Amino acid sequence: MDKQRTDEWVDFDEHQLAYHTKQWAEPKESTIAFYDFIKHKLLTSNCVIDLGAGAGAATSFIAQSEPEVSFVAADYVSDYLEIGKELAERNKIENISFRQIDWFSLEETNEFDSVISLQTLSWLPELRTPLEKVLTSIKPEWFAMTSLFYDGDISCTVEVLEHTNSRKSFYNVYSLKELDRIANEFGYQVSKCEKFEIFIDLPKPSNPDLMGTYTQNIRNERGVDERMQISGPLLMPWYMVLIEKIEH
Ligand SMILES: C[S@@+](CC[C@H](N)C(=O)[O-])C[C@H]1O[C@@H](n2cnc3c(N)ncnc32)[C@H](O)[C@@H]1O
Repeated sequence: MDKQRTDEWVDFDEHQLAYHTKQWAEPKESTIAFYDFIKHKLLTSNCVIDLGAGAGAATSFIAQSEPEVSFVAADYVSDYLEIGKELAERNKIENISFRQIDWFSLEETNEFDSVISLQTLSWLPELRTPLEKVLTSIKPEWFAMTSLFYDGDISCTVEVLEHTNSRKSFYNVYSLKELDRIANEFGYQVSKCEKFEIFIDLPKPSNPDLMGTYTQNIRNERGVDERMQISGPLLMPWYMVLIEKIEH
């Protein structure tokens, strides 16, 4: 786990725990949009691994919609997995199992034909190693993800410090062009890519000192109104991306 910064996840607080459990009761709009984004690919999948699944709330939503497909919710924080296991049993979801896996130590396997990952890649220290791990160790037919991306050739890492509670976090916005270039090195390409557009207004949090997503309406370059997602002082450019093998 050399390059990984683990403190954000391993020493989780109530805030993070609530994030993982709340979604079990109320699937996020972004999870539903992601399911629509990958539905056509799941028709030919047998076994899917979700990397950085947390307590498996998003995985279980997709698993319930696709009872013929097996899902493995993988995370390296065992406490999240225990919560997910209990909730899956209570909700009688039979096509999901939970496994403690560190993305950076993925072992070679033929067990999975496809990989998903929601809201995790941008919180890993960098793009190349995790992408290479997936494409060379799992060699999936396809790999779909949600994360923060930019459609130009610029990537950034943002360090966040909430002064009032001394909470530190960080995130990466990755260049989509760089993502495609790295995928090409391993015989894959970005085959589909959609900006996630939220359909509801999220109010600005009453406390400006804490990170928390809200929306502002803007008119884009095509003259169409869209909701921009913002957290604290930062833009949150969410995308859904599908990577597939290059056909020869
Ligand atoms: C923001 S949460 C996303 C959880 C879930 N996918 C969702 O959409 O609700 C990111 C998750 O990635 C996990 N994670 C971070 N680094 C990881 C690694 N190297 N291997 C496996 N999981 C990791 C964290 O423990 C955390 O549960």
